[in-house]
Amino acid sequence: MKRIGVLTSGGDAPGMNAAVRAVVRKAIYHNVEVYGVYQGYNGLINGNIEKLELGSVGDIIHRGGTKLYTARCEEFKTREGQQKGIEQLKAHGIEGLVVIGGDGSYRGAKALTEQGYPCVGVPGTIDNDIPGTELTIGFDTALNTVIDAIDKIRDTATSHERTFIIEVMGRNAGDIALWSGLAGGAETILIPEDNYDMDEIVSRLKSGQERGKKHSIIVVAEGVMSGDEFAKSLKEKANLETRVSVLGHIQRGGSPTAADRVLASRLGSRAVELLMEGKGGRAVGIEKNELVDYDIIEALAMPHVVDLDMYKLSKELSI
Ligand code: F6P
Repeated sequence: MKRIGVLTSGGDAPGMNAAVRAVVRKAIYHNVEVYGVYQGYNGLINGNIEKLELGSVGDIIHRGGTKLYTARCEEFKTREGQQKGIEQLKAHGIEGLVVIGGDGSYRGAKALTEQGYPCVGVPGTIDNDIPGTELTIGFDTALNTVIDAIDKIRDTATSHERTFIIEVMGRNAGDIALWSGLAGGAETILIPEDNYDMDEIVSRLKSGQERGKKHSIIVVAEGVMSGDEFAKSLKEKANLETRVSVLGHIQRGGSPTAADRVLASRLGSRAVELLMEGKGGRAVGIEKNELVDYDIIEALAMPHVVDLDMYKLSKELSI
């Protein structure tokens, strides 16, 4: 391939810029031209496409967000939208596309692949919910943002001897809640992948208070319910007063951590290698610190599994 494209799509994630930089630099290093598609699949349909040079991706490795902008695009879910995208790519002489994003973005890449256009998916989402990789770009940075918030909330929780409920993102996955809850020493973590027992939660909170615990932190994944809903049921069930903190989109911003920058550089670069080898229809990932790639159609059919051993551990350590 002599000319490839790159786009970011879906919810942004810290480290997307580092991935775009890796795609551009790796390709140019190997004399392959790179075109940036702006505003995700929306921009693809509308032909918002520009050639990128080495300098186009200077000074972005440390920046959150995405220089290529992003969007969620309903039209691209239709075959007509996908055909318009392929026509734009062909009109610009672009022979393969790197798609950096989450599961919706992968679905778009899968659709293009099924229509014979070579795409490679790079997992970029704070949710860590993409099959075929143990880690997604942005997850580590989001975790650190959540932990910073938990540490701060713990200060005020202790001063007032309060129970706090912290609602975190993750869509239908519990990874952000689980990892941040474990790292932040939360007393209780609620994830969509497992049921919770309200009686057990209440007795755990009460026995902690009796032992003289000055605060309690409960991390709730948004895929379970909202923090407010959980606060309401704790009030109804046990007459427990709580405070709720919804972290929201703060989890998507900020300078990417070193781990995310390295991951993004490795995955972005591997995606270009695959296209240069003439291999489209792949999804890159990392497993046991080794780069891997799967058929994108098969990858999307694989289930995302949360680490239930880690969940068990979090319960053991928060007695
Ligand atoms: O997929 C990333 C994510 O931040 C999810 O955790 C969250 O549910 C969703 O995007 C929010 O989407 P939006 O920014 O469109 O409200």
